[in-house]
Amino acid sequence: MNSLKRKDLLDIQSLTTEEINLICKNAKFFKEVFTRSVKSVPVLRGKTVCTLFYEPSTRTRLSFDLAAKRLSADLINVTVSTSSVVKGESLIDTVHTLEAMKADYIVMRHGAALAPHFLSQNIEASVINAGDGFHAHPTQALLDAYSILEKRGTLEGLRIGIVGDIQHSRVARSDIEVFKRLGAEVILCGPPTLVPDDFKVYGVDISYNLDDILPELDVINMLRIQRERQKSAFFPSIREYHRQFALNAKRLERCKQDIIIMHPGPMNRGVEMSNDVAESPNLIMNEQVTNGVAVRMAIFYLLAGGAPLEEMSEAK
Ligand code: CP
Repeated sequence: MNSLKRKDLLDIQSLTTEEINLICKNAKFFKEVFTRSVKSVPVLRGKTVCTLFYEPSTRTRLSFDLAAKRLSADLINVTVSTSSVVKGESLIDTVHTLEAMKADYIVMRHGAALAPHFLSQNIEASVINAGDGFHAHPTQALLDAYSILEKRGTLEGLRIGIVGDIQHSRVARSDIEVFKRLGAEVILCGPPTLVPDDFKVYGVDISYNLDDILPELDVINMLRIQRERQKSAFFPSIREYHRQFALNAKRLERCKQDIIIMHPGPMNRGVEMSNDVAESPNLIMNEQVTNGVAVRMAIFYLLAGGAPLEEMSEAK
């Protein structure tokens, strides 16, 4: 198997475990391409990638752009805030415009859950979900899994804590699925208002006390407090949240020495973690960003039908 047998990449649930492993294996190859003097390969030559972001993004948008460029695709960016969407154009009409321009791939971020799924049913192009509402952020989850695999070789048997605003997090929902699929145990931690009991249906443990769980963790993923999605107060104050759930130097001392600290970004410095932890060598946030490019190159490549990697190795 050297391709994804699907048109779109919409969520982790629809991927087989074999496909997840295939994406990670290919990401390793594409990461090696970064170390060459010529970093581009001609996988998507003649193809057009369009990024269509209805919500702000730095990492995801830039890494899809760079991945497409490194695969030699033509790239169009639609910045919704400066497009005809602000004049009232509907999603379906925007899509028909992109279709008329013969886009082959549409990378979409939208505030509404399942918007990329709707798009995928109405367009021949491959649709890649770059984050939809609270629902899913599959490419973030795949790069998170890849980043752990790169450090540990396997996720089998690892205890992974996901801390913070689970309720509003598409990253948490996709991470839970991919981490468990690859054999890790997942424990969620945060205030009860942000870690609803319903999450137990995903087969995870839940704790409301960060200090209790720190010594058992191999990996800790500190999520951003998403104030823009919170419609009411979920904790008394940021100061109180920081006191109870932030990772700080004192708490880091109670963790395993080689704990992997992750953050999907963007980080609220001084909220999810203290400044000294943000400078800790255990934090792999920038490696996650680098791996994001490799994983997204692998996804484009595999959706394009793959090709023997040996041929790519010669394409310098
Ligand atoms: N991790 C993530 O999705 O970051 P951006 O919002 O900057 O894309």
